Amino acid sequence: MKLENDLYLRASSGQEIERYPVWLMRQAGRILPEYREVRASVSGFKELAETPDLASEVTVQPVDLLGVDAAIIFSDILVVPDAMGLTYQMIEKKGPWFEKTIKNESDLALIDNDIDVEDRLAYVLQAISLTKRKLNNRVPLIGFAGAPWTILCYMVEGSGSKTFSQTRKLLYTNSQLAHELLQRITDVTIAYLKAQQRHGADALQLFDSWAGILGHNQYQEFGMRYIKQIVEAVKGPFTVFSKGAYSSLSNLMDLPCTTIGLDWNMDMAFARSLCGESKTLQGNLDPCVLYGSEERIQSETFKMLKSFKSPRHIVNLGHGVYPDIHPENVKTFINTVKNYEI
Ligand code: CP3
Repeated sequence: MKLENDLYLRASSGQEIERYPVWLMRQAGRILPEYREVRASVSGFKELAETPDLASEVTVQPVDLLGVDAAIIFSDILVVPDAMGLTYQMIEKKGPWFEKTIKNESDLALIDNDIDVEDRLAYVLQAISLTKRKLNNRVPLIGFAGAPWTILCYMVEGSGSKTFSQTRKLLYTNSQLAHELLQRITDVTIAYLKAQQRHGADALQLFDSWAGILGHNQYQEFGMRYIKQIVEAVKGPFTVFSKGAYSSLSNLMDLPCTTIGLDWNMDMAFARSLCGESKTLQGNLDPCVLYGSEERIQSETFKMLKSFKSPRHIVNLGHGVYPDIHPENVKTFINTVKNYEI
């Protein structure tokens, strides 16, 4: 079925567009009072994410209320370790917490082999099918997963961390175990992303939120190697967002994906000089711009748009929108992009 608004997909594949598409990472939830209302009707984040009817409802909210050019399924990257046997809890005001973590070979027994993603992650796949119905072909739906390195960080550390030093330690003290885990995560992630496509996801994004804590060689060995496997196995519009992976930008450009996500510290012109017209670039306004006045949001957005030297762009922030940003400011950003003629 043809989408009414397929700007995001056309921009992904380098086709002609009349204006730049715009959406926000973490748009589904957090900033909208309408989301908080749905969230308050259940016990917490996990119940919301695991209830397809509600997850699809909050996925569609930013399309209706903010006018974004794509929806992203309301879920979390941590559903993958959860499906593999390491269950997480989302603790209010603190974030994710895993009761069991992986520290040595014997802990591998905590992880289930050969899991069926259609079974263990049925709730996400159902939410995708339901969302497709509720979107009624208005805009594309983005599916996603965490990149293996970022997922490994949570499996080893068991929660967020400033340094993820236990995970980085493992790379030096037991690299074999790290590779074993990364390969298992990769295999599940490939199956999971393909299942998301089968259930209706029009495009996919891989989030490598902790790419930036590894040195260049480490990121090649423990990050890129597995991202490459995923991108080679999964076809279609695909964005790799490796936050902070500055020294690997040119390597990222060699991946067979359509789109590279840039954070706000990355230089758009430099990234373009590395890839020419071979990639769509996504990003990269500093999310903090959205704390500014209406005029400031407009002028900073214009500055970014004017720096684009190619139509191959998808406009976004350089990372997820912060929860205390006012929806009106988000709308100012979105409308500035939508009213800008290429
Ligand atoms: O982008 C979207 O709108 C879709 C939903 C989405 C969520 N998490 C929902 C969520 C996406 C794409 C994610 C990805 C995710 N989750 C990442 C990668 C992106 C990034 O920000 O770097 C990471 C590292 C996580 C892990 C995670 N989930 C953390 C560390 C936390 C706690 C801190 C926080 O950001 O709130 C979460 C919780 C989470 N995931 C919430 C939402 C809406 C907040 C839960 C709540 O409603 O209380």
